[in-house]
Amino acid sequence: MSSTRQSAKKFLIFVGKLLFTLVEAMIFGLLPKPRKNVAGEIVLITGAGSGLGRLLALQFARLGSVLVLWDINKEGNEETSRMVQEAGAPQVHAYTCDCSRREDVYRVADQVKKEVGDVSILINNAGIVTGKKFLDCPDELMEKSFDVNFKAHLWTYKAFLPAMIANDHGHLVCISSSAGLTGVNGLADYCASKFAALGFAESMFVETFAQKQKGIKTTIVCPFFIKTGMFEGCTTGCPSLLPILDPEYAVRKIVDAILQEKLYLYLPKFLYFMVFLKSFLPVKVGLLITDYLDIFHVMDGFTGQKKVL
Ligand SMILES: NC(=O)c1ccc[n+]([C@@H]2O[C@H](COP(=O)([O-])OP(=O)(O)OC[C@H]3O[C@@H](n4cnc5c(N)ncnc54)[C@H](O)[C@@H]3O)[C@@H](O)[C@H]2O)c1
Repeated sequence: MSSTRQSAKKFLIFVGKLLFTLVEAMIFGLLPKPRKNVAGEIVLITGAGSGLGRLLALQFARLGSVLVLWDINKEGNEETSRMVQEAGAPQVHAYTCDCSRREDVYRVADQVKKEVGDVSILINNAGIVTGKKFLDCPDELMEKSFDVNFKAHLWTYKAFLPAMIANDHGHLVCISSSAGLTGVNGLADYCASKFAALGFAESMFVETFAQKQKGIKTTIVCPFFIKTGMFEGCTTGCPSLLPILDPEYAVRKIVDAILQEKLYLYLPKFLYFMVFLKSFLPVKVGLLITDYLDIFHVMDGFTGQKKVL
């Protein structure tokens, strides 16, 4: 076949697939997407000792999943374990793990594989925030932000992805942030770590897709502030468009996105529009909107978690 005919054939196949995918997306946009069954799945949640991690564990317990809880905070994690048992999880396994330490992640991951089995849903949720302006932030704290908020994701993927690929079954969940979509003053190290987490999860989604590993799903979550205490003292200048989210609401949305195998979840919905605007508006217009929404001042009252991490 001549190269022109080959190119024409390739183009026609592409157009056919494009139309099919667009129609499919439109149909699923109108109809509610079916939720997958996660009963019996082994769900590992990092940072399960409080906040979103604890609430996610409770939701998966109600859905009949086997839970593997990781946290640096032993007491908080054991408390979650008790709550999850009461909520009806068929099995709960709590491990103390410092996700900022690669050796700790690999050691505890080996223990999980021996004692529980192959993790099929991995939720990288553990996170910290320094909440300091860049020049006031000690180097060690900035490194810690990267270790917990981003590098831990590399090590957990290395530990659990091979079995997911072998079983052609797995779901990788990245809890990033709206701070992983747009830079925020007073949050430079946090934003950078959350951009990195998002970039890594998105790249791994593309890598599994390109390698036709169809059983491996990815969900990337980018929420604005949630009332868990992590961003205590922070404010929003525009609660109607950018409300500070209720943790129960955020977790319901996150679990729903996982069950529907959605790739991206931004909370609240206004963030989708902000990202769209950012992609084409002149910088000065973007800054005017940022100023109008009072985003330059969201961190002014930051006090953060009361407990020491
Ligand atoms: N709260 C918000 O406003 C908000 C907004 C967007 C994204 N997020 C992200 O959501 C995730 C959960 O945050 P949260 O609001 O529940 O905060 P949280 O402080 O209640 O929970 C974080 C958990 O991570 C654990 N953790 C911290 N360092 C760890 C380490 N080295 N190893 C293991 N565990 C560690 C903590 O002990 C804690 O239990 C974080 O990744 C955070 O960045 C939070």
